[in-house]
Amino acid sequence: MTDKNELAQIGVVGLAVMGSNLARNFARNGNTVAVYNRSPEKTHALIEAHGEEGNFVPSETIEDFVASLERPRKAIIMVKAGKATDAVIDQLAEAMDEGDIIIDGGNALFTDTIRREKEVAARGKHFVGAGISGGEEGALNGPAIMPGGPKESWETLGPILESIAANVDGTPCVTHIGPDGAGHFVKMVHNGIEYADMQVIGEAYQLLRYGAGMEPAEIAEVFREWNSGDLDSYLIEITAEVLAQKDPETGAPLVDVIVDAAGQKGTGRWTAINGLELGVPITGIAESVFARALSSSTAQRSAAQEGHLPSGTITELDVDKAEFIEDVRRALYAAKLIAYSQGFDEIKAGSEEFGWDVDPRDLATIWRGGCIIRAKFLDRIRAAYDNNADLPALILDPYFKGELEDLIDPWRRVVVAATQLGLPAPVFASSLSYYDSLRAERLPAALIQGQRDFFGAHTFQRTDKSGTFHIEWSGDRGLTQTD
Ligand code: 6PG
Repeated sequence: MTDKNELAQIGVVGLAVMGSNLARNFARNGNTVAVYNRSPEKTHALIEAHGEEGNFVPSETIEDFVASLERPRKAIIMVKAGKATDAVIDQLAEAMDEGDIIIDGGNALFTDTIRREKEVAARGKHFVGAGISGGEEGALNGPAIMPGGPKESWETLGPILESIAANVDGTPCVTHIGPDGAGHFVKMVHNGIEYADMQVIGEAYQLLRYGAGMEPAEIAEVFREWNSGDLDSYLIEITAEVLAQKDPETGAPLVDVIVDAAGQKGTGRWTAINGLELGVPITGIAESVFARALSSSTAQRSAAQEGHLPSGTITELDVDKAEFIEDVRRALYAAKLIAYSQGFDEIKAGSEEFGWDVDPRDLATIWRGGCIIRAKFLDRIRAAYDNNADLPALILDPYFKGELEDLIDPWRRVVVAATQLGLPAPVFASSLSYYDSLRAERLPAALIQGQRDFFGAHTFQRTDKSGTFHIEWSGDRGLTQTD
């Protein structure tokens, strides 16, 4: 239904699939939605195909679009992140009045969001960078939404976003994350965790396929079973679907006809870069980004295959298949746990750096539904932060510590097996090193400090007294205190 005289509670600019689906979700949930797209064909197509789902107010100019919104006006931008976003923000800010709210629902880089918020605020309007997760289906049926921006915008926006968000046990999967770029920052880390989650699933598949010699359809069944336990999650569920799928053209397992070069649009990379900048060891996420990059280094990979790099001695798997499957399940669970623990570390560090006061409990709550990383295990993460809001690391929570007691031996066995089988398992292996590094009483960092002092007089601290020290390496090798 369309009614030009009715004022809309919310507007959507940009009607590609995500924007259209979000507009339909608003309309289906009783909101009157203003819709605008630069080329009006998309607007017409939306109204033609779905106009009966609710109240839409279509416009062909941005001015008409803005005029069709009730005050304070609320417009969500769903255009391709980047320059297009700035152009639309400028047009909206021009046509809007003081106190109106511009929301960017794309995957924007949080530093852009911080900048945009300042610029829009200077023009007397509010700007909210909102991470929206759940893909096309989520946008239509209930995404997880992570809005940043000023708290007062949340008061106006909150109810309308709650009306379209996913819902778990009566709690909507949306909450105000924090000021300016906080929403897009946590969405970025969500995506980093998404990369790691997908990579560890991939590593488990690789081991079952080429280590245990199982066929994709058989592995699909294993994932189906795993989805009813600790690993219960959207990504495990869709993995079973993908593995069970046959290629409609050849009848071969679909996974065998897909080129093994993973793409990326950049959010995982941003998460890794930010982790490096903040000095947070998000090894699982970074390793997953590198794993995608390596998979896509096709020229180098074929040269390495043709040149037959030596494999060393490869041993066959010599354990019972059922036991190996269970070991792989536990290794996957452990590596996933590390990735989440590291992701939450990054959020904590980002929140401190930018003064956002992000509550990790909120994220564990709203990520339980709608988003790509939705998983049963987020309930446990929520409970962990309920018990101790200042947990030094998620894996130090007593529940997860208890889980790790059960996971650690199988995890070690799987990393050893992968090494002996000559199969890559970068996140399984590096997460285990991260874990052992955290546990280690002494790290080789002491030696690195000694080396730094040797070649650059970079000084070091001592374990037995405070102060800063240097050894006269090229002189009498005596100790001097520099501070
Ligand atoms: C989501 C997803 C989504 C992301 C895609 C693509 O939460 O709905 O994270 O926002 O854009 O998954 O990511 P890559 O192309 O980088 O894999």
